[in-house]
Amino acid sequence: MSRIVIVSNRTPGKGPAAGGLAVALRKVLSRHEGFWFGWSGKLTETPDSKPRMEDVDGLKVAQIDLSPQDHHAYYAGFSNSILWPSFHLRLDLATIESYWYEGYRRVNAQFAKALKPLLRPDDVIWVHDYHLIPLASELRALGAKNRIGFYLHIPFPTADALYAIPHHGELMRDLSRYDLIGFQANRDVAAFTDFAEHQAPSTFGISNTEAVDFSDTEVAAFPIGSDPEAFARLATSPAAKKMIHRMHRALGEQELVLGVDRLDYSKGLPQRVEAYEKLLANNQRFRRKVHLLQVAPPSRDTIKEYQETSDTLDAICGRVMGRFAEPDWAPLTYVKRTYGQPSLAGLYRLARVALVTPLRDGMNLVAHEYVGAQDPENPGVLILSRFAGAAEIFPDALLVNPFDTDETAEALRVALDMPLEERKTRWQALNRAATAHNVDDWALAFLERLSPGIAEAGGGATDVIYMASVA
Ligand code: G6P
Repeated sequence: MSRIVIVSNRTPGKGPAAGGLAVALRKVLSRHEGFWFGWSGKLTETPDSKPRMEDVDGLKVAQIDLSPQDHHAYYAGFSNSILWPSFHLRLDLATIESYWYEGYRRVNAQFAKALKPLLRPDDVIWVHDYHLIPLASELRALGAKNRIGFYLHIPFPTADALYAIPHHGELMRDLSRYDLIGFQANRDVAAFTDFAEHQAPSTFGISNTEAVDFSDTEVAAFPIGSDPEAFARLATSPAAKKMIHRMHRALGEQELVLGVDRLDYSKGLPQRVEAYEKLLANNQRFRRKVHLLQVAPPSRDTIKEYQETSDTLDAICGRVMGRFAEPDWAPLTYVKRTYGQPSLAGLYRLARVALVTPLRDGMNLVAHEYVGAQDPENPGVLILSRFAGAAEIFPDALLVNPFDTDETAEALRVALDMPLEERKTRWQALNRAATAHNVDDWALAFLERLSPGIAEAGGGATDVIYMASVA
């Protein structure tokens, strides 16, 4: 029977999982033979090229260390200062240092060199996210003939943004070495197809002059989801109830408006707080009646643009506090730390409104988790950016343009005034969509397309509680 090999930058650690990518696939490997391969999280001056195989809570994980220099160029550099901003259409926030690309390729080559000896000819390999675009090319160069699939968790850029990325021609050629490329949304498939069909040959650099041939690569949308039933259970767990109790004491009669995001410029946090400011400015009746809680765990904080986003958010939250707070009332709480999934599920359950307003997002699992955690008899309202992949799944949310803070402020007013019957009708539709797009079916659909028959070949399911993330 074919094994499944999952490859990603981060690998799952012991205990409750933290990252979206790192948790979504635990179930797959609890049902199929195989292992997970990736970076150990450790930096050392002289990394061993042979991977260490470990058992992590019943999961086989093979890991390699990286040197600090390579890791910086590959992760903070090419992946998160060039690819991340460009793919999120924030070219203004991209920094281009040409040596980062060398480090990015070097790390992908190291991954391939360490992984290749562990592979059997019929292993099916599933590579995740923008850190590892060249991995199939590197594996093929070492002789791997396996089926290899690639899943992009973030949006695919427009052609113009793609052309702004150094070595984009090589990256596209790397993508053509996969058998299957999966995207979050139809929007991404359309952007990719647009590029593939209208490639403008570069006039600079010999390797970029020919159009890339994608005829051997299948491309499709596989929208990722969460496990809404697990979230429904988590939301009534003792830890969630404890959080709800704690919040009830602090909130009294106030309605909770909730945001939960990594502290990332793509999440539209300053615009969100500004929209809340407008709600309070335009509707005096909501003062003392609502409270915004923004949970924003710091992320990639060695990168200047992330530090600046954090500073901007500090300033805007301070401004709103200064404008509306009174000695006995605060309009908002802003928490820069991570919470465990049960506590988050409690917050989701309590929140009358979830503000999920990224400027651009692959999917956004917080939207899925919020829906899963609602009380069916008294559900809250999801305000969702139309630029999140989730907007294709959740047309029954209040869809907003996050750049238009007047529109978001008005959506907040509508959400806070929404009668119970309408909240229920909308939530039922959202919950049906979240259930239809659950993470199990997502993984099986991708694997089945990559290697037909593999899904049925899986053994009996071990029930691993799926815990999702702040992606
Ligand atoms: C996004 C990416 C993931 C990444 C996660 C956390 O969801 O798609 O690949 O793991 O953010 O970011 P980090 O840089 O901390 O891994």
